[in-house]
Amino acid sequence: MSATLTSNSPVLGSPIQLYDLHPPLEDLRAEVLRGLSQPQKSISPKFLYDKQGAELFDAICTLDEYYLTRTEMAILTTHAQEIADWIGDGALIEFGSGSSQKIRVLFDAMASLPTYVALDISKQHLQESCADLVNVYPNLLAIAICTDYTQSFELPAIPAIADQRRVGFFPGSSIGNLEPDEAVEFLKNVAGVLGANGRLLVGVDLKKSTAILEPAYDDAQRVSAAFAMNLLARINRELGADFDLNQFHYRAFYNPIGRIEMGLVSHIDQTIHFDGVEIPFRQGETLRTEYSYKYNLVEFQQLAEQAGFQTKAIWTDPQQWFSVYGLEVMPPSLRQTPD
Ligand code: AVJ
Repeated sequence: MSATLTSNSPVLGSPIQLYDLHPPLEDLRAEVLRGLSQPQKSISPKFLYDKQGAELFDAICTLDEYYLTRTEMAILTTHAQEIADWIGDGALIEFGSGSSQKIRVLFDAMASLPTYVALDISKQHLQESCADLVNVYPNLLAIAICTDYTQSFELPAIPAIADQRRVGFFPGSSIGNLEPDEAVEFLKNVAGVLGANGRLLVGVDLKKSTAILEPAYDDAQRVSAAFAMNLLARINRELGADFDLNQFHYRAFYNPIGRIEMGLVSHIDQTIHFDGVEIPFRQGETLRTEYSYKYNLVEFQQLAEQAGFQTKAIWTDPQQWFSVYGLEVMPPSLRQTPD
C-alpha cells in the first residue's frame, strides 16, 4: 500500500494532511454490464452519485417528506453534550466525509477538538469538506484519507492518532443501502479499523408507518424520481447508451420485510444498446437502483452484536423515527463465534 502524504494550505486554519491510498477507479462500464445481465437487473447505488446525482441527493435531504436528515440533525443537536461526552477524547473518524453539518454539532459540544480523520472515495469531496471544517475550526487537526472504505480496511499508520482511542462516525443511515448480511460484514471491518476500545456512532433509520416511509422516497416534487432517473442519464452520458428516459418511470415502495425498494420500471418492451451489447427490457420490468433498509431498535442492536459491537447508548427523537447508536467494539472474549 503506497500512501503519499501531502499538505495543502487552505485560506485559514491548519494544513490538512492528505493520505491518498489511490482507490481503484470504479468501473462503471463493467458493473453496468454485469448488473443489467442478471435476471433481476440492478445497478449499485454508489453510481447514483455523479455530480448531478450528488446535487439531487442534497436536494432530497431538504425535502419536507425526507424526514431522515433533519431528524438525525435534531437528535444530534438535542443530545450534543451527552453524545460529545460519550465520544470522549479519541480521534474521530468519519466514514464518508459528507456534508460537515453533522460533525460540527459534535465539535461545538466538545471541550476540546478531537483529531479528525475523514475517509472518502472522492478526493475532491474529501478536500472540500476538510477545508470547510478547518476554516470554521482553525485549530482542528484534519487528516483526509482518500480510500474506498467499503473495500479496503486498513488505515495507514497515522502518527497523529497513534496512541488515541478511535471513534467512528457513520451518520445518515447510509448503512441502509446494504443488505443485512453485508451490513454485518461492513461493521466487522469497521470494528477492525477502530480496534480494541474503539467506539462507533452510527445513524440508522427506524421502521415506521408506510404512510411516512413511502413519501420520503417518492416525494411530490419528484426529486427522488429525478435522482434515480439520473442514473440512466449518466449511463447515456458516460457510456453512450441509448436509454429513453421517457420510457421508464420511477417506483419506490415499502416491502414489509423491512426495506424501501427503489427502481425504474420499463413502460414497454424495449432494447437498450451500448458498447455493441443489447439489453432487452420487458414491459413492467424493473431495474433496481436501491434498497433502503430500516431497523427497529432490537434488530439493529442484534445486527451490531453479530458484527462484534455492544450497544452502549441509543438516542432517538420523540416520534422514534430515527436512531443514533453509541456502539463499542467488544473484547474478543465476548464476541460471537463465527457460524
Ligand atoms: C443515502 C442510503 C441514506 O436510503 O435514505 C434517499 C439514499 N435514495 N432517497 C436513503 C436515498 C433516495 C439514502 N441513503
